[in-house]
Amino acid sequence: KKRLVIAIDGPAGAGKSTISKEIAKKLDIEYIDTGAMYRALTLKVLEKGVNIDDIDKILDILESSSIYFKNNHIYLDGINVDKEIRENRISKYVSDIAKIKEVRSEMVKLQRQLSKESNVIVDGRDIGTVVLPHANFKFFITASPEVRADRRYKELLLKGEKVTYEQVLKEIKTRDKIDSTREVAPLKKAKDAYEIDTTNMTIQEVVNKIINIIEGR
Ligand code: C5P
Repeated sequence: KKRLVIAIDGPAGAGKSTISKEIAKKLDIEYIDTGAMYRALTLKVLEKGVNIDDIDKILDILESSSIYFKNNHIYLDGINVDKEIRENRISKYVSDIAKIKEVRSEMVKLQRQLSKESNVIVDGRDIGTVVLPHANFKFFITASPEVRADRRYKELLLKGEKVTYEQVLKEIKTRDKIDSTREVAPLKKAKDAYEIDTTNMTIQEVVNKIINIIEGR
């Protein structure tokens, strides 16, 4: 039987990870959060006090790090970093690190390895275009920047971070710009992806829509 491979791409705060997790649970398949991998590297770079322009040092760090998932949790050098990687200080710098060509080629290698064993849903920015161009189903999930910022803002507030909506909106727009204009693997809808604008949809509606498409209804 053919393996099921689902690619989910889209800008920050569109709901990709919540949606992907839910679909993985419903279909009983693996979930791989590729953004978490770039975030884990960013966390280590910041903790080591390395300048985000210092490509050589960043590559050294990547080479000497182990980044992996276990039961949907992300581990950096054997330590669970689920919480730390979601902090706003990471979101601020992750796109600068993710635009480095050599970082991407290493990450893509890792991501393909992780995706090749079982039925998977993989979310990110370049999954349908670069990482898994032969995925059986590709989705491009969007929402207006204001709605995405509002979702992120509420998440951060719940975690007790001191941020303003305006600040989050500005950071989301900056991240969108870096992600979609970078030279290597920019954020882009794959030609054969279904685009879903979630601005006026609930998570459950998006999940149902995707599952209906996958199950051919
Ligand atoms: O998905 P998430 O918002 O956690 O991703 C964090 C950042 O990692 C993105 O803004 C982007 O810069 C980078 N990323 C990427 N390619 C991916 C996944 C994430 O460049 N496949």
